[in-house]
This record gives sequence, C-alpha cells and structure tokens, in this order.
Amino acid sequence: MTITEAQVREALTKVIDPALEHDLVSYRMVRGIEVAGDDVLVKIDIPTHAYPEALRREQGKRIESALKAIGARNVTVMQEVETAFLPAPSDKAVLKGPKNVIAVAAGKGGVGKSTVAVNVALALARHGAKVGLLDADVFGPSIPTMLGPPTKPPTAADNKQIIPAEHHGIKVISVGFFVDKGEAVVWRGPMVHRLLQQFLGDVEWGDLDYLICDLPPGTGDVQLSLSQLIPIAGSIMVTTPQEVSIVDVVKGIAMFEKVEIPILGIVENMSYYTCPACGHHDEIFSHGGGKRLAQEVGAAFFGEIPIDTRIRFGGDAGIPVVIAAPDSENARRFMDIASAAALKVAGAVLSKPKRSPRLAVIK
Ligand SMILES: Nc1ncnc2c1ncn2[C@@H]1O[C@H](COP(=O)(O)OP(=O)(O)O)[C@@H](O)[C@H]1O
Ligand SMILES: [Mg+2]
Repeated sequence: MTITEAQVREALTKVIDPALEHDLVSYRMVRGIEVAGDDVLVKIDIPTHAYPEALRREQGKRIESALKAIGARNVTVMQEVETAFLPAPSDKAVLKGPKNVIAVAAGKGGVGKSTVAVNVALALARHGAKVGLLDADVFGPSIPTMLGPPTKPPTAADNKQIIPAEHHGIKVISVGFFVDKGEAVVWRGPMVHRLLQQFLGDVEWGDLDYLICDLPPGTGDVQLSLSQLIPIAGSIMVTTPQEVSIVDVVKGIAMFEKVEIPILGIVENMSYYTCPACGHHDEIFSHGGGKRLAQEVGAAFFGEIPIDTRIRFGGDAGIPVVIAAPDSENARRFMDIASAAALKVAGAVLSKPKRSPRLAVIK
C-alpha cells in the first residue's frame, strides 16, 4: 500500500500539538513530508528551544499514531527548533537581530521583576536559545549587580555601535554599566526615549531568539517609549501575593492593553516561605493572589516562586539561582516559567497569518 503526501498532510491537520494545543498544519509546524511507499518522514518545526522535552516526545507519538492509522509502516519524525517570530513592521524596525521581545513588568518596585527577568533570561539560554537582556529600568538599574562582573564588558565598536556585555552566555546592556553606582540620574521623558533608542538600535545584539526587557515599576516613560519603538511580543507580570501589589498589577495590565502589549502571563513571587531548619511552610503574604488575579483577568498563570534566601543571595552575589544551583527546585521553577512564556509567544505568533517583512521606506 502506498500513501500520498496529501493523505499525510490531511492526517496531520488532526494532530493537536501538545504544547500549543492547535493542529500542526494550521500552526505552520510541518516543514516537510517525504513519502517512500508506506514509509513516512515528517519534519516538524519546534517553535522555541524552551519547548519541553516530554511534550516533544508526546508530539512525536501523536504524529506516529495518526500516520499509522492511515497505513504508514515506518514513521520518522524529525523535530528541529525554528524560533517563531513576526518580522517587525517598518515603523518599528529600530531593533535588528532579536526575534522576540519579552518585557518583565510589575505595578510596583521590589516585587522581584529584576530577579525574574534575570533568571528567565538565563533559563531561556539554558533551554538553548540565544538571549539578550536589556535593563530598561534606567531609574534603578540592578542587572549589573545581579549578574556580577561580566565575562566580557560592553565595548564600543569602530562604527559607533555598542557591543553588549556578556554574562553566563547572555548579552546584556544596562545604563548601570555607564554610570557610577549610587550616582543619581534624573531621566526625563525625551532623554529616556533617546537612551532606549540607542540601547535598541545602536547595540549589536546580533541574532537573538529572545530579548528580555527588565522594566521599571509602574507605567511611565519607559513603557511608553518601548511600545513606540519596537514590537513587544508580550509581558510577564510579576506580583507578590499581597492585595496592594495585585491592585498595582491590574493597573499595569490596563496600561499595557492601551499600548497594545499583550500580557503573556503572571508570576507570583515571594509566594511562601519554607523554613530551611524545620520545613515549616509559612504564607507570609498570604498565597494564591497571583493565580486568582490571572483567572480574573483571563491571563495564564506561569507559577510561583517562594521566598528563598538563596534567591536573594544569588541576586546580590551576582550568580542567579538558575546558574548557581541549576538542579534546585527554584531553578526548575524558573525553567518552567521560561518555557511557559516562550510557548505563549510562539502560540501568539503562529496563530496569526504569516506577516512578510515590509521594506522600510528610505528617505
Ligand atoms: N523569591 C525571592 N526570595 C528572596 N529574595 C527575593 C526573591 N525575589 C526577589 N528577592 C530579593 O528582593 C529584592 C527586590 O527584588 P528585585 O528583583 O530587585 O525587585 P524589582 O526589580 O521588582 O524592584 C532583591 O534584593 C532580591 O534579591
Ligand atoms: Mg528591578
């Protein structure tokens, strides 16, 4: 019995991707089909490096059983990562190189935005993606402290481009590299805009799968400028479980909706505390507010991070937990949050019809 490519494609329209929960064909994940008699080879584009291993296997199994059901004898599934992204429209083409920009935001300061931004960026890199981290908190840049001394400091190239610093395999830029620690810088709206323009357009980011932007708290000039300058795939909102933090996140979400930055999901940080001495589990700020908030606003809940001195210490000492204790429970939580965010981005990209890059008008 021989099978045709059309039959294979038809069968694949009924295979639901276990991570994106849509069929493989309409989400453009089928790169190629080769049929030889009743042997079939299917090439699948995995849309992010952070696609979980267990779901890859599940996807392979689903393909195999769908094709065996139409009479295939040997089924080979080749899965290769091809990061899904939408080319920037010409009015937002400042940024060259990074495929997807993910913002990390919160209504207030001190809830762990920078901690989440740093660990999610490093987690995406550990998943195998090429990652950059832009410290867009120009008012309180904490990324240089959190990442410690760079493997390579930022430098200026001959063509006036800035070459970003490198820490633990990710590319990093922060205003903290250029002003002295403790020096207060008052940034006004237009200055913020120009600075961000430089950090986006004059930095040689190179070919990156993800650029993570650590935002200042609340909704101000930085958020507005970024949304005007570049397309942002979406934002991870960080909250602590207390009501005050949650109320501020709700305000943040409303503002992001106005500037058309989609909310990818919510992370509850400082969720609870487990005493390392006796194992007692204490919900210092009452727990679960992040999850409830996610349900109320119809956003995904990406998970919770407990209060853990090793997280604070990692941040202060310049070795974030994802690097310092890669096999720890907390590192795993950040790996999972990174996967969830990357899959949300991929799902959003693949649910849209393919946008072809428009040529920028040269004036
Ligand atoms: N889950 C956590 N457990 C312990 N300390 C944390 C945790 N998350 C953040 N911190 C600490 O709290 C402080 C504020 O976090 P940070 O990420 O700088 O917040 P933000 O960027 O929102 O202002 C930092 O000292 C950080 O190390
Ligand atoms: Mg911060």
